[in-house]
Amino acid sequence: PFGIQHMTAKDLKILVAHGVNLDLLGQRQTHIYGKADLATLNQGLIDWAKHLQQQFRLSRLQLECFQTNVEAELLAKLSEQRWDGVLINPAAWTHTSVALADRLAGLSLTYVEVHLSNIAARESFRHHSYSAPGAAGVVYGLGLTSYTAGLTGLVARLALGDGALCPKSSGCLRIAPDYRPKCRRIWAKASSRTSG
Ligand code: DQA
Repeated sequence: PFGIQHMTAKDLKILVAHGVNLDLLGQRQTHIYGKADLATLNQGLIDWAKHLQQQFRLSRLQLECFQTNVEAELLAKLSEQRWDGVLINPAAWTHTSVALADRLAGLSLTYVEVHLSNIAARESFRHHSYSAPGAAGVVYGLGLTSYTAGLTGLVARLALGDGALCPKSSGCLRIAPDYRPKCRRIWAKASSRTSG
């Protein structure tokens, strides 16, 4: 479905970082955050990663899942090793932490930010994210699917490169040509130019 013909021979190591209070998933405000607990979410992501490894023809896709309620521990984890990418739900630190945003930028990390709830539809203090401007992408409001969608985007970006998700680049064709009619048109033009 992603139309990738060749093994990209990439071995990717991704950190899945859950911020403060996400240890309470499944118990806390289930009408907002859902009934699944953190272990279920992590297992779902590990299963999804196996699928992505195949779809993107990666030689290996490893996830390390991490949660902490101590901001300093999250900052240390981000620099523990050279992560290829980070899928992060900074939770309440999204709206408060210049330090976290600075560290993500300072380490030049490629990251996708995710939130379970639709933060744009909630209290106004949740509308601002310090970390979103530096993210490769942000997904929110889809519950657990925010994470699987975010992981898919992150892996696409890491496997296929920077330009791959730009709608104007032919790179996006390699991800989901069937869903991007505009891209298909650009591609059709480009290929008629090259063949003609
Ligand atoms: C959250 C949204 C944040 O505003 C909140 O502080 C969280 C979880 C989410 O996943 O919807 O703890 O990041």
